[in-house]
Amino acid sequence: MHNFVGVIDSGVGGLTILQKLVAVNNDQNFIYIADHAFCPYGTKTNDTILSRAEKLVGFLQEKGAYSVVIACNTASVFSDELRAKFAVPIYDVIEPTCKAVQKITKTKRVALLATNSTIANGAYQKTLLQSGIQTVDYACSKFVPFVENAATASISCLKTIEQTLKTLPQSNVDAVILGCTHFPLLKRQISYYCKNAELIECQCELPMLSGENGGMQGQITYYTTGNVDYANVAAKPFGSVYFKKLLL
Ligand code: DGL
Repeated sequence: MHNFVGVIDSGVGGLTILQKLVAVNNDQNFIYIADHAFCPYGTKTNDTILSRAEKLVGFLQEKGAYSVVIACNTASVFSDELRAKFAVPIYDVIEPTCKAVQKITKTKRVALLATNSTIANGAYQKTLLQSGIQTVDYACSKFVPFVENAATASISCLKTIEQTLKTLPQSNVDAVILGCTHFPLLKRQISYYCKNAELIECQCELPMLSGENGGMQGQITYYTTGNVDYANVAAKPFGSVYFKKLLL
């Protein structure tokens, strides 16, 4: 496939970003890679996360991607390192999401729900603090496997969310950042703890890329580095998504 945008995540979470990109760039070709062999990223070391992101971006660049979207907050933390290493333009999700937060919060106190790694690395907190916005942090790596195992309606998923977010209703925030691309799949369960705070999903600012394929619908190819059957089940909420195996 030529003239395509590469989109990467540890698993199916990045499909929430891909969906948004396809909605406004319908005639584009995309290659999506889910790095299931190393999922979840949020409990891995920084070295592992960066080296996996390098592998995926390197593969996409070599295949001829004209841009790459890091549809993963945990890996977006390393987007400057990736930009320094690769020629292909790289778009992350943290900067544009912070811009959305700045527009929405009035009280300048927001909750950040993200993987343990994203919380510990502090990129959101640092960027938001520059505009005087304070975060109340919730490390939510435990949520990710429920999405990947298609178990978002299970009792243990609901219990885990309750244990993790039980103080959220008293946290006095006016916005809640879903700072992991897996979390829109748990939006209903999470919103129960958000009172009147506005939920903010991850954003991506990919410049509009119209004109490909002569106005015809673009092609999307889905790869997983893990088990194809598991990946297809996890991707069910996204409709017709069928993964191919990628050895990386
Ligand atoms: N979806 C990813 C994110 O936005 C990572 C989830 C994980 O693999 O821990 O951070």
